[in-house]
Amino acid sequence: MSGTLSDTRPRIAILISGSGTNLQAFIDRAGSGELAADIGIVFSNRPDAYGLKRATRAGIPVSCLEHGHYADREHFDRAVAERLDAGRPDLIVLAGFMRILSPWFVHRYEGRILNIHPALLPLYPGLDTHQRVLDAGDSRHGSTVHFVTEELDGGPRVLAGRIRVMPHETAAELMQRVQAVEHRIYPEAARWFVEGRLQFRDGSAWLDGEKLDEPIVRDFD
Ligand code: GRF
Repeated sequence: MSGTLSDTRPRIAILISGSGTNLQAFIDRAGSGELAADIGIVFSNRPDAYGLKRATRAGIPVSCLEHGHYADREHFDRAVAERLDAGRPDLIVLAGFMRILSPWFVHRYEGRILNIHPALLPLYPGLDTHQRVLDAGDSRHGSTVHFVTEELDGGPRVLAGRIRVMPHETAAELMQRVQAVEHRIYPEAARWFVEGRLQFRDGSAWLDGEKLDEPIVRDFD
């Protein structure tokens, strides 16, 4: 999976800012052959992101640029793209990348960027989703893989993983269970993409030639 990149296997670039448990799920699936793709580069906007260690341990090239050193969002994004393009990525996977992307970046890779958001979109875009779910007294929660467009957490949804909220559960406990779901659904959606089954066309997500008006939903309880 790492070290020497194949000329034929699809290439994934993964962008992180933190712990990288989702990145780890990709590393594991690519390592086991379940995800037939090479992770060509892991990029972080934070030098202390633990995910960089995970990538290095797996022999994946890493790159880091700090956004604070750039005049504005687009200048930063252009520098990031330069790093990513060196590895000719087919797919960009945002895995806890805590930066809003500029329209320039989104258009540069239109239809080739996936994100995972820890909520059942369109519910709860933005931050603190677990606490907001608890505050609202919702009985279901989960996470959603979607294509990235200019609208924050608003691009076409692909795959959602759903769990039941337990009585007296804390936001931290909920987060842990949601993340376990993410580690299942995110590599799966990426696999669909690299296998050519999942596409972004006319502003919508398409799976196996069918337009997804709603995401595929998997229940994990
Ligand atoms: C995930 O929960 C994901 O939904 C959100 O950021 C978190 C990243 O976690 N976008 P990790 O760095 O993959 O552990």
